[in-house]
Amino acid sequence: MPVIAVINRKGGSGKSTMATHLAAWLARQGAAVMLGDVDRQQSTRTWLKRRSPTLPAIAPWTIDQKNVLKVPVGVTHVVLDTPGGIHGFELAKVVMSAHAILIPVCHSVFDRESAAACIAELMALPRLASGRCKLGVVGMRIDARTRAAETLQEWADGLNIPFLGVLRETQIYVRSLDSGQTIFDQRSTLVQADLDQWEPILQWLQPVTQLQPPAPQPVAAPAPTPVHTPRAPSLMPAQESLVHGSRLSVFAPAPLRQ
Ligand SMILES: Nc1ncnc2c1ncn2[C@@H]1O[C@H](COP(=O)(O)OP(=O)(O)OP(=O)(O)O)[C@@H](O)[C@H]1O
Ligand SMILES: [Mg+2]
Repeated sequence: MPVIAVINRKGGSGKSTMATHLAAWLARQGAAVMLGDVDRQQSTRTWLKRRSPTLPAIAPWTIDQKNVLKVPVGVTHVVLDTPGGIHGFELAKVVMSAHAILIPVCHSVFDRESAAACIAELMALPRLASGRCKLGVVGMRIDARTRAAETLQEWADGLNIPFLGVLRETQIYVRSLDSGQTIFDQRSTLVQADLDQWEPILQWLQPVTQLQPPAPQPVAAPAPTPVHTPRAPSLMPAQESLVHGSRLSVFAPAPLRQ
């Protein structure tokens, strides 16, 4: 079961935004996704409660009688949202199960310095050092009119870390999350530029997710006719029963087929 963690010890760098979007994209591909909130703020759990049951389902953790977090039975993909400030044992615990780590980074020097310290700690962990878990950086809230993307690319190159691309600053993210949605739940003609920015990130994750992102749309192409894409049969029960789920399984990371 692939586990993707979104990590950056800098608060407000876009972890929850990235984790919710990744979970929603996976759900839309027909995966049975769990979005686990390691964050005490429980931001993504709150977002899940706002999510309409008519949208592709995303499960939260279940909690057993001993207060242990478990992945519900049938889940095929796990996305973990983590809190700002995470380090030491807490960080190592999250990484122990992860196959890929995404680091959203805003472009200021403070954001870069904080992310560099976080990346150094991560790269020293055996799971990353041995290559069992890979790590990539994404520029977050980037204004295309500035050199922010280039600055971040150069910074990531200097650290020898894959730079997967940038997500622009737009209220579409904020408004979508407000209503329990993501840009993947919007009509693609309204958010095509943003969907295209996700393509290289999803492509980089493909060996882990085993799911192929769509190719970016040519800029001058006419708006595609909306089609209904049938989803693969879900292994998960309906979202409501997952929120109150009673069927539990122990969360044990398994090696991935590459
Ligand atoms: N691409 C974007 N465009 C505009 N606003 C964004 C974008 N990404 C994130 N935001 C906004 O930035 C703020 C911080 O984002 P988010 O909550 O995802 O960060 P976080 O790293 O999870 O924060 P914390 O460390 O507090 O958990 C939020 O208000 C969010 O709506
Ligand atoms: Mg958060």
